[in-house]
Amino acid sequence: MATVAAPTLGIGSPNNSESMARRYGRAIVSFACDSCSGAMTRKLIVAVVPALVACSAFTMQPPSQPGTLPPADEQRPLVIAHRGASGHRPEHTLPAYALAIAMGADYIELDLVSTRDGVLVARHENEIGATTDVAQKFSQRRNTRVIDGDSVTGWFTEDFTWDELRTLRANERLPSRSHAYDGHFGVPRLEDVLALADSAGRRRGRVVGVYAETKHPSYFRSIGLPLEESLLAALHAHGLDRRDAPVFIQSFESGNLRALRTKTRVRLVQLVYDTTQVTPAALREIATYADAVGPNTRLIVPASIGGRATSVIRDAHAAGLLVHAWTLRPESEFLAARYRGDPLAEVRELAALGVDGMFGDFPDLVLEGLGRGPASGR
Ligand code: G3P
Ligand code: CA
Repeated sequence: MATVAAPTLGIGSPNNSESMARRYGRAIVSFACDSCSGAMTRKLIVAVVPALVACSAFTMQPPSQPGTLPPADEQRPLVIAHRGASGHRPEHTLPAYALAIAMGADYIELDLVSTRDGVLVARHENEIGATTDVAQKFSQRRNTRVIDGDSVTGWFTEDFTWDELRTLRANERLPSRSHAYDGHFGVPRLEDVLALADSAGRRRGRVVGVYAETKHPSYFRSIGLPLEESLLAALHAHGLDRRDAPVFIQSFESGNLRALRTKTRVRLVQLVYDTTQVTPAALREIATYADAVGPNTRLIVPASIGGRATSVIRDAHAAGLLVHAWTLRPESEFLAARYRGDPLAEVRELAALGVDGMFGDFPDLVLEGLGRGPASGR
């Protein structure tokens, strides 16, 4: 196991459940949904505010009417909870999203892949061996597939129906993080996350934005399970397929974003990871079909102590693009040396440089770095 410095605030440890509960409220929750553990109703104590834990997946309330709540975009930079509060709970689970909302995140981020019967589910990749108990429950389904040119062996969402996938439980991906919640929570559908965002936003009195990424969109289209039509249909059903919706759709591929531009006015984000993708000319091209660019933080500032920031934010803004940077993580294995072990310094530097949004595994830390933590009353 890698040696990792404890994050600031002592977060991510199973031993700090009490302090988490004090800060964000304690609730005894009766989960009786597909996304929570146990075939029968199971009572859990979780550190989320009581109002939020009644996930809307089970409250059956109608979608919000536009304009009735303060918008998700009222703050800049936006705090985007990466895979939920994934530093505290297994990524892409309803409790991870609920905790992020309780902490005050503006948006919750989810990656989307498809089941065999076309249900969009929240997983970082279609191979789910590393983040669920699928190997124990479906050992015979191990398979090898070529995904975007890479041969991958494991268990794939497209080999399972939703009825099968709903029996799985999520596990923490990173060995260095707490595994206290392994096996507790299920894999949510896009529909479950949209419903949670809707009801939790109304309960907290401020819209919860949804930041959805299409994962391997060309691959899924090639096997007859395109992601985009189902995503747009779900957004439409929730009244979110409109220009001013609290929604971003992101992709590392440009082809599906260009196609989406002709089908929706929802804001689109081109994810990038390489310097060739953020030249002034490349950014101007991105601006012809997208509203924002999502660069790795290293494209904005180098890891080295004393290294100078690039012109990416300035160039992107000149092209008319918002800039949303990924991914802020406080642990020493991820945090750049220039911050000398202080994750808040990264938040502050990116904010000072003018970034428009930050993806963080620990949204509470990002909020604290921006002066929007619990002590600030927000
Ligand atoms: O979507 C922003 C960021 O999440 C991109 O990286 O691999 O975590 O989806 P990844
Ligand atoms: Ca993502």
